[in-house]
Amino acid sequence: MQELKLGRRIFLKSAGGVAAAVGTGGVALVPGAAQAAAAPGSTGTTLTYPRRGVGKAAGMPVNTAVSFSYPDPSSPCVALRMGSAVAGGVGPNGDIVAYSSLCTHMGCPVLYHAESKTFKCGCHFSMFDAEHSGQMICGQATENLPRVLLDYDPASDTVNAVGIDGLIYGRQANIL
Ligand code: FES
Repeated sequence: MQELKLGRRIFLKSAGGVAAAVGTGGVALVPGAAQAAAAPGSTGTTLTYPRRGVGKAAGMPVNTAVSFSYPDPSSPCVALRMGSAVAGGVGPNGDIVAYSSLCTHMGCPVLYHAESKTFKCGCHFSMFDAEHSGQMICGQATENLPRVLLDYDPASDTVNAVGIDGLIYGRQANIL
């Protein structure tokens, strides 16, 4: 009986220690795991996105999809120069945005429709708003289109992709 009591006490002490580590956000159960965890308060990956040129702002046609891939060749994206400033837009007029072109429902390619300034998915008819951060308008998808974060270098008139806001369909992390 004494042995059993001691065993329970040790067990409870150990369990309390583990619970305290988990409760405080500690991830001490797997050696080395702390290095891979995101910074406190962060919900994103700690891996670094590449900086990649999308094109010259002056050369981008207005309201026409320009295809590129980011952050790797297997991730199709589309850049758009909307013609007037939009939230999150870059470039001389603050009107250039970019999105992943994989639908967030099941990964079908979305196509840009210039008349409505929306992306439409032909598989199950989801629609996303290109002027409002890829916001889902209707359909089977439950997430907005991932937005490619851009910056603009006025000296070279170059638009660069520097990150992604949202998870590309089919991935556990945007950077593989
Ligand atoms: S894959 Fe786009 S709506 Fe289903």
